[in-house]
Amino acid sequence: MADHKKEIDNVTGVETTGHEWDGLKELNNPLPKWWLYIFYATIAWSVVYWILMPSWPLINSYTTGLLGYSQRSVATQEYDEALEARAQTGQELMNASLEEIQNTPQLLEFAMANGGAAFADNCAPCHGTGATGFVGYPNLQDDNWIWGGTLDDIAMTISYGVRSEHDETRVGEMLAFGRDELLDKEQVKTVSNYVASLAGLDTNPSYDMAAGKELYAENCASCHADNGTGLQELGAPNLTSPSWVYDRSVEGIVAQVNNPRHGVMPAWIDRLGETTVKSLAVYVHSLGGGQ
Ligand code: HEC
Ligand code: HEC
Repeated sequence: MADHKKEIDNVTGVETTGHEWDGLKELNNPLPKWWLYIFYATIAWSVVYWILMPSWPLINSYTTGLLGYSQRSVATQEYDEALEARAQTGQELMNASLEEIQNTPQLLEFAMANGGAAFADNCAPCHGTGATGFVGYPNLQDDNWIWGGTLDDIAMTISYGVRSEHDETRVGEMLAFGRDELLDKEQVKTVSNYVASLAGLDTNPSYDMAAGKELYAENCASCHADNGTGLQELGAPNLTSPSWVYDRSVEGIVAQVNNPRHGVMPAWIDRLGETTVKSLAVYVHSLGGGQ
């Protein structure tokens, strides 16, 4: 290179770099001005950026920059703000009555979101994701309520449960007419056949309907009411509704009269707190069957 003389390319009149490959010579054209300026500008910008923003890694930390920006602090701040807004709405929800929640759009929206999420987490395993229930786990979408379908009734059921461990639990017990020999086999079948007629099921003509009616009045009406529509104070279901807790068939009725099943629903007030229970009550009430 030392003895390299300046050489001018004949065709273009431009100086060559002296590099040559297979007879092709490299021209020493300068870089375009616009390209150079952008290049210098990006270098200048990077220096400014290093000074202002977090950039260089150090051994245990990094240069934080004069502006003190960090994505974590931005995220934390946004999170704090969201939490505060939430806490404030939560507080308002806590102080509002169930009716007020239902009539205040902002509170209702919050309660529905909160209640929907809590339902999916805590209730769906027993009542189904769509709240339509399973045998033994009532449908919460229809307007047939064992324990009542007003906002207050629903909130009460959710708070303290049914036959739960809570002191204020809802309780109601059907007698085991068959097992405890309060009725003999024939009487169980006769009264069950009558109840089937109340439920709108096919009945067996070999059983005496009038005798069944009498057995019903003596043994069942105190809880399920004279016409079979049930008593919510006792948790005795409506036997004339198409939506039953258990097996809606003559065999199902016989089984229940012989050896009744009793559903258990946990109490939620201590586990979920008042705000979430209120949200759940509003949510369940809104599913369609609220009264
Ligand atoms: C372990 C199963 C289970 C879980 C979990 C459960 N429930 Fe229940 N739930 C029941 C049973 C069983 C009944 C029916 C009790 C009865 O037979 O009287 C019931 C009844 C109800 C009722 C009364 C229905 C009526 O017709 O009066 C409501 C309301 C209710 N549950 C809401 C909820 C909500 C809200 C949650 C979630 C926080 C929940 N349940 C979680 C089992 C459960
Ligand atoms: C002391 C009150 C009481 C008496 C008396 C009583 N029941 Fe019940 N019955 C209940 C309760 C409470 C339930 C609900 C059990 C549950 O939800 O787990 C029930 C449930 C039932 C069911 C199931 C309903 C469903 O939705 O699946 C049938 C059927 C029934 N009773 C029939 C009878 C008949 C027939 C008699 C009279 C021979 C009778 N009951 C007497 C309290 C009573």
